[in-house]
Amino acid sequence: MKLNYYLKIIFPISIILVTNFAFAAGDAPVPPKRQWSFNGMFGTFERDKLQRGFKVYQEVCASCHSLKYINFRNLTEIGFTNDEAKFIASQATVPGGIDDEGEAFERPGRLSDPLPRPFPNDNAARAANGGALPPDLSLITKNRNYGPNYIFALLTGYVDPPDGYELSPGMSYNEWYPGHQIAMASPLSDEIVDYPDGTKATISQMAEDITHFLHWAANPELEERHSLGFQVLIFLTLLTVLFWFVKRAVWRKIDH
Ligand code: HEC
Repeated sequence: MKLNYYLKIIFPISIILVTNFAFAAGDAPVPPKRQWSFNGMFGTFERDKLQRGFKVYQEVCASCHSLKYINFRNLTEIGFTNDEAKFIASQATVPGGIDDEGEAFERPGRLSDPLPRPFPNDNAARAANGGALPPDLSLITKNRNYGPNYIFALLTGYVDPPDGYELSPGMSYNEWYPGHQIAMASPLSDEIVDYPDGTKATISQMAEDITHFLHWAANPELEERHSLGFQVLIFLTLLTVLFWFVKRAVWRKIDH
Protein backbone atom coordinates (compact mmCIF):
# COMPACT_ATOMS: atom_id res chain seq x y z
CA MET A 1 0.00 0.00 0.00
CA LYS A 2 2.75 2.40 1.00
CA LEU A 3 4.83 1.58 -2.06
CA ASN A 4 1.82 2.08 -4.25
CA TYR A 5 1.25 5.50 -2.71
CA TYR A 6 4.88 6.40 -3.33
CA LEU A 7 4.77 5.27 -6.95
CA LYS A 8 1.52 7.00 -7.77
CA ILE A 9 1.95 10.35 -6.06
CA ILE A 10 5.36 11.18 -4.61
CA PHE A 11 7.41 9.79 -7.49
CA PRO A 12 5.66 11.74 -10.31
CA ILE A 13 5.71 14.94 -8.27
CA SER A 14 9.43 14.65 -7.57
CA ILE A 15 10.13 13.99 -11.25
CA ILE A 16 8.23 17.14 -12.21
CA LEU A 17 10.01 19.23 -9.58
CA VAL A 18 13.47 17.96 -10.44
CA THR A 19 13.05 18.43 -14.21
CA ASN A 20 11.61 21.92 -13.68
CA PHE A 21 14.49 23.01 -11.51
CA ALA A 22 17.01 21.51 -13.89
CA PHE A 23 15.34 23.36 -16.77
CA ALA A 24 15.27 26.64 -14.86
CA ALA A 25 18.94 26.28 -13.97
CA GLY A 26 19.91 26.03 -17.66
CA ASP A 27 17.77 29.05 -18.55
CA ALA A 28 19.04 32.57 -19.17
CA PRO A 29 19.65 34.71 -16.10
CA VAL A 30 16.69 36.71 -14.78
CA PRO A 31 17.11 40.40 -15.70
CA PRO A 32 16.74 42.97 -12.90
CA LYS A 33 13.29 44.50 -12.46
CA ARG A 34 12.90 48.15 -13.46
CA GLN A 35 10.25 50.75 -12.74
CA TRP A 36 8.27 51.48 -15.92
CA SER A 37 5.57 54.13 -16.05
CA PHE A 38 3.37 51.74 -18.07
CA ASN A 39 3.38 49.02 -15.40
CA GLY A 40 0.47 48.52 -13.03
CA MET A 41 -3.25 48.91 -13.45
CA PHE A 42 -3.16 52.65 -14.16
CA GLY A 43 0.19 52.77 -16.01
CA THR A 44 0.65 55.15 -18.95
CA PHE A 45 3.39 55.87 -21.50
CA GLU A 46 5.57 58.96 -21.29
CA ARG A 47 5.37 60.90 -24.56
CA ASP A 48 8.90 62.31 -24.36
CA LYS A 49 10.38 58.83 -23.88
CA LEU A 50 8.28 57.43 -26.75
CA GLN A 51 9.48 60.13 -29.12
CA ARG A 52 13.10 59.76 -28.09
CA GLY A 53 12.74 55.99 -28.44
CA PHE A 54 11.39 56.40 -31.95
CA LYS A 55 14.45 58.49 -32.80
CA VAL A 56 16.72 55.71 -31.52
CA TYR A 57 14.76 53.16 -33.54
CA GLN A 58 14.99 55.24 -36.71
CA GLU A 59 18.62 56.22 -36.41
CA VAL A 60 20.06 53.00 -34.96
CA CYS A 61 17.84 49.91 -35.08
CA ALA A 62 15.95 50.53 -38.35
CA SER A 63 19.00 49.67 -40.46
CA CYS A 64 18.60 46.01 -39.39
CA HIS A 65 15.18 45.56 -37.72
CA SER A 66 11.73 46.08 -39.22
CA LEU A 67 8.72 47.30 -37.24
CA LYS A 68 6.14 46.00 -39.63
CA TYR A 69 2.95 46.59 -37.66
CA ILE A 70 3.55 50.32 -37.22
CA ASN A 71 2.38 52.80 -39.88
CA PHE A 72 3.54 56.41 -40.08
CA ARG A 73 -0.01 57.37 -39.11
CA ASN A 74 0.46 55.67 -35.71
CA LEU A 75 3.14 58.25 -34.85
CA THR A 76 0.34 60.70 -33.97
CA GLU A 77 -0.42 58.35 -31.05
CA ILE A 78 2.98 59.07 -29.49
CA GLY A 79 2.54 62.82 -29.52
CA PHE A 80 3.59 63.86 -33.04
CA THR A 81 1.13 66.17 -34.82
CA ASN A 82 -0.42 65.06 -38.10
CA ASP A 83 1.91 67.39 -40.01
CA GLU A 84 4.99 66.14 -38.18
CA ALA A 85 4.04 62.52 -38.92
CA LYS A 86 3.43 63.46 -42.59
CA PHE A 87 6.84 65.08 -42.74
CA ILE A 88 8.57 62.05 -41.18
CA ALA A 89 6.77 59.82 -43.72
CA SER A 90 7.79 62.03 -46.63
CA GLN A 91 11.47 61.66 -45.66
CA ALA A 92 11.27 57.89 -46.21
CA THR A 93 11.32 56.10 -49.55
CA VAL A 94 8.90 53.21 -49.96
CA PRO A 95 8.17 50.82 -52.84
CA GLY A 96 5.73 52.57 -55.17
CA GLY A 97 4.69 49.64 -57.36
CA ILE A 98 5.35 49.03 -61.08
CA ASP A 99 5.48 51.82 -63.66
CA ASP A 100 4.28 51.75 -67.32
CA GLU A 101 7.59 50.22 -68.45
CA GLY A 102 7.23 47.40 -65.93
CA GLU A 103 9.97 48.75 -63.68
CA ALA A 104 9.59 48.84 -59.88
CA PHE A 105 9.77 52.43 -58.65
CA GLU A 106 9.98 54.16 -55.28
CA ARG A 107 8.12 57.16 -53.88
CA PRO A 108 8.14 59.25 -50.69
CA GLY A 109 6.18 57.67 -47.81
CA ARG A 110 2.64 58.64 -46.81
CA LEU A 111 0.80 58.41 -43.49
CA SER A 112 -0.88 55.16 -44.55
CA ASP A 113 2.45 53.39 -45.29
CA PRO A 114 4.06 50.98 -42.82
CA LEU A 115 7.55 51.96 -41.66
CA PRO A 116 9.94 50.76 -44.41
CA ARG A 117 11.71 47.42 -43.91
CA PRO A 118 15.50 47.42 -44.01
CA PHE A 119 15.69 44.26 -46.14
CA PRO A 120 13.44 42.98 -48.95
CA ASN A 121 13.25 39.50 -47.38
CA ASP A 122 14.65 37.26 -44.63
CA ASN A 123 17.41 35.81 -46.82
CA ALA A 124 18.76 39.26 -47.60
CA ALA A 125 18.58 40.12 -43.88
CA ARG A 126 20.52 36.97 -42.94
CA ALA A 127 23.09 37.50 -45.68
CA ALA A 128 23.83 41.00 -44.34
CA ASN A 129 24.09 39.79 -40.73
CA GLY A 130 26.45 36.84 -40.90
CA GLY A 131 23.60 34.34 -41.17
CA ALA A 132 21.59 35.64 -38.17
CA LEU A 133 18.11 37.09 -38.66
CA PRO A 134 17.36 40.39 -36.92
CA PRO A 135 13.79 39.79 -35.70
CA ASP A 136 10.93 42.20 -36.38
CA LEU A 137 10.63 44.38 -33.27
CA SER A 138 6.86 45.11 -33.38
CA LEU A 139 5.97 42.54 -30.72
CA ILE A 140 9.38 41.90 -29.20
CA THR A 141 8.51 43.03 -25.65
CA LYS A 142 5.63 40.54 -25.70
CA ASN A 143 7.63 37.74 -27.31
CA ARG A 144 10.49 37.57 -24.84
CA ASN A 145 10.41 36.41 -21.23
CA TYR A 146 10.62 39.34 -18.82
CA GLY A 147 9.57 41.70 -21.69
CA PRO A 148 10.81 45.28 -21.24
CA ASN A 149 13.16 44.33 -18.36
CA TYR A 150 14.88 41.85 -20.69
CA ILE A 151 15.15 44.26 -23.64
CA PHE A 152 16.67 46.95 -21.40
CA ALA A 153 19.08 44.45 -19.85
CA LEU A 154 20.06 43.07 -23.28
CA LEU A 155 20.86 46.51 -24.70
CA THR A 156 22.96 47.47 -21.67
CA GLY A 157 24.38 43.98 -21.08
CA TYR A 158 27.40 43.88 -23.42
CA VAL A 159 30.46 43.04 -21.34
CA ASP A 160 33.83 41.35 -21.88
CA PRO A 161 33.50 37.56 -21.83
CA PRO A 162 34.84 35.80 -18.72
CA ASP A 163 38.49 34.68 -18.89
CA GLY A 164 38.98 31.66 -21.10
CA TYR A 165 35.53 31.95 -22.71
CA GLU A 166 35.57 30.86 -26.37
CA LEU A 167 33.60 33.43 -28.34
CA SER A 168 32.74 32.31 -31.89
CA PRO A 169 33.78 34.66 -34.71
CA GLY A 170 31.33 37.50 -35.34
CA MET A 171 29.58 36.99 -32.00
CA SER A 172 29.39 39.28 -28.98
CA TYR A 173 29.13 38.38 -25.32
CA ASN A 174 26.00 39.55 -23.55
CA GLU A 175 25.25 38.98 -19.89
CA TRP A 176 21.49 38.59 -20.40
CA TYR A 177 21.14 36.87 -23.77
CA PRO A 178 20.25 33.16 -23.38
CA GLY A 179 23.55 31.32 -23.96
CA HIS A 180 25.41 34.69 -23.86
CA GLN A 181 26.61 34.62 -27.50
CA ILE A 182 24.63 37.00 -29.68
CA ALA A 183 25.08 37.83 -33.36
CA MET A 184 24.14 41.50 -32.76
CA ALA A 185 27.09 43.66 -31.75
CA SER A 186 26.19 46.29 -29.14
CA PRO A 187 23.96 48.65 -31.16
CA LEU A 188 24.22 51.51 -28.66
CA SER A 189 27.17 53.67 -27.73
CA ASP A 190 27.16 56.96 -25.84
CA GLU A 191 25.84 59.94 -27.86
CA ILE A 192 25.07 57.81 -30.93
CA VAL A 193 21.91 59.91 -31.32
CA ASP A 194 21.40 63.59 -30.67
CA TYR A 195 18.27 64.24 -28.61
CA PRO A 196 16.56 67.52 -29.59
CA ASP A 197 15.17 67.98 -26.05
CA GLY A 198 18.68 68.17 -24.60
CA THR A 199 18.51 64.79 -22.79
CA LYS A 200 21.98 63.26 -22.55
CA ALA A 201 22.12 60.22 -24.82
CA THR A 202 23.83 57.71 -22.52
CA ILE A 203 23.55 54.00 -23.37
CA SER A 204 21.23 53.47 -20.44
CA GLN A 205 19.01 56.46 -21.36
CA MET A 206 18.69 55.30 -24.98
CA ALA A 207 18.01 51.71 -23.85
CA GLU A 208 15.26 53.01 -21.59
CA ASP A 209 13.74 55.17 -24.34
CA ILE A 210 13.83 52.53 -27.10
CA THR A 211 12.37 49.91 -24.72
CA HIS A 212 9.59 52.33 -23.77
CA PHE A 213 8.89 52.89 -27.47
CA LEU A 214 8.99 49.17 -28.32
CA HIS A 215 6.57 48.39 -25.49
CA TRP A 216 4.18 50.96 -26.94
CA ALA A 217 4.62 49.39 -30.40
CA ALA A 218 3.63 46.00 -28.96
CA ASN A 219 0.77 47.43 -26.85
CA PRO A 220 -0.59 50.57 -28.53
CA GLU A 221 -3.96 49.99 -26.81
CA LEU A 222 -2.45 49.78 -23.28
CA GLU A 223 -3.55 53.23 -22.07
CA GLU A 224 -7.07 52.77 -23.40
CA ARG A 225 -7.26 49.36 -21.73
CA HIS A 226 -6.04 50.76 -18.42
CA SER A 227 -8.45 53.70 -18.50
CA LEU A 228 -11.35 51.40 -19.42
CA GLY A 229 -10.39 49.13 -16.52
CA PHE A 230 -10.44 52.15 -14.21
CA GLN A 231 -13.89 53.21 -15.45
CA VAL A 232 -15.23 49.70 -14.97
CA LEU A 233 -13.87 49.69 -11.41
CA ILE A 234 -15.62 52.98 -10.61
CA PHE A 235 -18.81 51.72 -12.22
CA LEU A 236 -18.76 48.50 -10.21
CA THR A 237 -18.07 50.39 -6.99
CA LEU A 238 -21.03 52.72 -7.61
CA LEU A 239 -23.20 49.75 -8.52
CA THR A 240 -22.27 47.98 -5.28
CA VAL A 241 -23.21 51.06 -3.22
CA LEU A 242 -26.47 51.37 -5.15
CA PHE A 243 -27.34 47.73 -4.57
CA TRP A 244 -26.64 48.12 -0.88
CA PHE A 245 -29.22 50.95 -0.64
CA VAL A 246 -31.70 48.98 -2.72
CA LYS A 247 -31.29 45.98 -0.42
CA ARG A 248 -31.88 48.13 2.64
CA ALA A 249 -34.98 49.68 1.11
CA VAL A 250 -36.40 46.33 0.08
CA TRP A 251 -35.81 44.59 3.41
CA ARG A 252 -36.70 47.53 5.69
CA LYS A 253 -40.35 46.63 6.09
CA ILE A 254 -39.71 42.97 6.77
CA ASP A 255 -39.51 41.67 10.34
CA HIS A 256 -36.30 39.81 11.04
C1 HEC B 1 23.77 45.83 -37.61
C2 HEC B 1 22.47 45.23 -37.46
C3 HEC B 1 21.70 45.45 -36.17
C4 HEC B 1 21.38 46.64 -35.55
C5 HEC B 1 21.79 48.05 -35.96
C6 HEC B 1 20.54 46.31 -34.43
N1 HEC B 1 20.37 44.94 -34.36
FE1 HEC B 1 19.25 43.94 -33.01
N2 HEC B 1 19.76 42.17 -33.86
C7 HEC B 1 20.57 42.02 -34.96
C8 HEC B 1 20.75 40.62 -35.24
C9 HEC B 1 21.56 40.03 -36.38
C10 HEC B 1 20.01 39.91 -34.25
C11 HEC B 1 19.90 38.40 -34.08
C12 HEC B 1 20.92 37.97 -33.04
C13 HEC B 1 21.07 36.48 -32.89
O1 HEC B 1 20.23 35.73 -33.39
O2 HEC B 1 22.08 36.07 -32.28
C14 HEC B 1 19.40 40.92 -33.41
C15 HEC B 1 18.59 40.63 -32.32
C16 HEC B 1 17.93 41.59 -31.57
C17 HEC B 1 16.99 41.30 -30.52
C18 HEC B 1 16.50 39.92 -30.10
C19 HEC B 1 17.32 39.31 -29.00
C20 HEC B 1 16.72 37.99 -28.58
O3 HEC B 1 16.40 37.82 -27.40
O4 HEC B 1 16.52 37.13 -29.45
C21 HEC B 1 16.56 42.48 -30.01
C22 HEC B 1 15.56 42.71 -28.90
C23 HEC B 1 17.25 43.51 -30.74
N3 HEC B 1 18.08 42.94 -31.68
C24 HEC B 1 17.06 44.86 -30.52
C25 HEC B 1 17.74 45.86 -31.19
C26 HEC B 1 17.56 47.26 -30.91
C27 HEC B 1 16.60 47.84 -29.89
C28 HEC B 1 18.38 47.94 -31.76
C29 HEC B 1 18.59 49.43 -31.83
C30 HEC B 1 18.99 50.09 -30.63
C31 HEC B 1 19.08 46.94 -32.57
N4 HEC B 1 18.65 45.69 -32.19
C32 HEC B 1 20.01 47.24 -33.56
C33 HEC B 1 21.12 43.04 -35.71
C34 HEC B 1 21.05 44.38 -35.41
